[in-house]
Amino acid sequence: MLIAQFSDLHIKPAGKLAYGRVDTMAFLDQALAHLAALPQRPDLLLLTGDLVDAGAPDEYERLHERLRGVAMPWLLIPGNHDSREQMRASFPEHPWVGRTGFWHFVAQEAHWPLRIIGLDTVVAGEGRGEICAERLAWLRARLEEAPDVPTLVAMHHPPFDTGIGHMDEIGLAGREGFAEVVARHPQVQLVVCGHLHRNIRATVGGRAVMTAPSTAHAVALDLAPDAASMFTLEPPGYLLHWWNDGSIVTHHVCTAPAEGPYPFHDPGLD
Ligand SMILES: [Fe+2]
Ligand SMILES: [Fe+2]
Repeated sequence: MLIAQFSDLHIKPAGKLAYGRVDTMAFLDQALAHLAALPQRPDLLLLTGDLVDAGAPDEYERLHERLRGVAMPWLLIPGNHDSREQMRASFPEHPWVGRTGFWHFVAQEAHWPLRIIGLDTVVAGEGRGEICAERLAWLRARLEEAPDVPTLVAMHHPPFDTGIGHMDEIGLAGREGFAEVVARHPQVQLVVCGHLHRNIRATVGGRAVMTAPSTAHAVALDLAPDAASMFTLEPPGYLLHWWNDGSIVTHHVCTAPAEGPYPFHDPGLD
C-alpha cells in the first residue's frame, strides 16, 4: 500500500495570496502534478489539515474542485485553520465521518493492509490543538477493537514539542494521555501530523511520529524558544508512506521542478 500525505495547503479565495505573498493554489497544483507523475500511483491521498486558510466555503470549493480530479481516493483531516462544520457542508460525500461532533474516522478497506484512524485535534477559534478526555476515550476504544490490525493514526497537531518556540506555543494539549494510549497499542505503526510545515520526526509512547511538509510555505527553522514567527519558501513537498512487509517506510518528496532523472552511468559522458 502506498499513501501520499499532503498537509497545510492553506487554500485562499481566488485572487488572494496567503500572507500577501504565497500563491497556495499554484503550489497545490505543483504538488498534484508531481503526484500524478509518480511512477507508482498511491492508493490513497491523505490531507492532514489546514486544508484552507480561513475555513470559508469558497476556499473549500476551490479545494474540492481540485480533489475531484485526483485519480485516487482522498481523506481529509481538519487543522486549526479549518472549520469542521464547513467541511461537513462542503464535502458531504466524505466517507466514514459522522454527521455531528468531532471529525474522526476509521478508514479500512478489505484490500488495505492498514487501518487508518483520523483524529480531530481542533479547538474551534484557537491555533493550539487538544486531545480532551472524550477524544482520548474514542481513540482508546478504536485501538482496543482491532489490536491486531496495523494502524496509521493521522491528526493535525503533533503530540511533541519541536523546538520552534512559537509553534510549540500552539501545540497539542492532552499529549500525555495520547502517549499512554499509543504506548499500550503496538499496532500503531506510525502517527502522521501536519501543522509544522516541516518534516520532523519524533518518538511518542514508543511509536514513530512525524509531521509533513506543507505543499506551499514552510515555517522558518529556528529552534529558539522566542523564535520569531516567520515563514520561508524553501522547496515544498509531501510524504509518501509505503507499507512494506510489516512496517511503514516514509519518503520525503520535493515537488519543485528538478532536472533529471539521469542515468548514473552515461557512456556519452564517460
Ligand atoms: Fe498550517
Ligand atoms: Fe496548523
